[in-house]
Amino acid sequence: MANSVENTPVPLCVLISGRGSNLRAIGEAIATGQLRAVVRVVVSNRSDAPGLDWARGEGIETLVLPHQDYPSREAYDEALVQALKARGVRMVCLAGFMRMLGPAFCEAFPQAVLNVHPSLLPSFPGVGAQAQALAHGVKVSGVTVHFVTPELDAGPIIMQSAVPVRDDDTCETLSARILVEEHRVYPEAIQKIIAGGWRVDGRRVVTTAVSET
Ligand code: GRF
Repeated sequence: MANSVENTPVPLCVLISGRGSNLRAIGEAIATGQLRAVVRVVVSNRSDAPGLDWARGEGIETLVLPHQDYPSREAYDEALVQALKARGVRMVCLAGFMRMLGPAFCEAFPQAVLNVHPSLLPSFPGVGAQAQALAHGVKVSGVTVHFVTPELDAGPIIMQSAVPVRDDDTCETLSARILVEEHRVYPEAIQKIIAGGWRVDGRRVVTTAVSET
């Protein structure tokens, strides 16, 4: 994907486990032309993920792959890779997918597996990032879009945006403020990767050319 300028919409898979509001933001960015991609398939490890209903309503193929059905993480990842390759998927966007992906999965889609996380990484990785931020007493938190590696929430950072943490914030109010930024930044970061003009230099994603978008 690096340095390649895409002229045709890039086939994406969006991986979800729940609500799917970032999935919707991606769909809306595609609809408005901000994102030159097409959601080829939405995959969930949970059959009751509400985001699946939205995808079905949009006529997007959905696939439920319950992780309990597989004897190991490796077997699950292999099944996922096969399902996505069979559908011509070129980029994988995690959007609230509550599963770690192993080395074989990441290597199957080099520099093309992205995640959105509700904190300014490397602060507050893992679950409950907004609660972690409140408990720590930080004055600023935000959103990070990063490449996925087998290490939890630790891959090279593509884009970040900060939001203030207010004295009267609850987990709900802070999460809502961050979510607004997630919906703005995630499609923008995906388009940046699709547009090319960047490379990964160690931990850093650096610009190599002014992109045309
Ligand atoms: C978001 O806060 C995302 O950053 C995190 O999980 C949540 C998913 O929300 N990884 P949604 O399912 O996209 O609404």
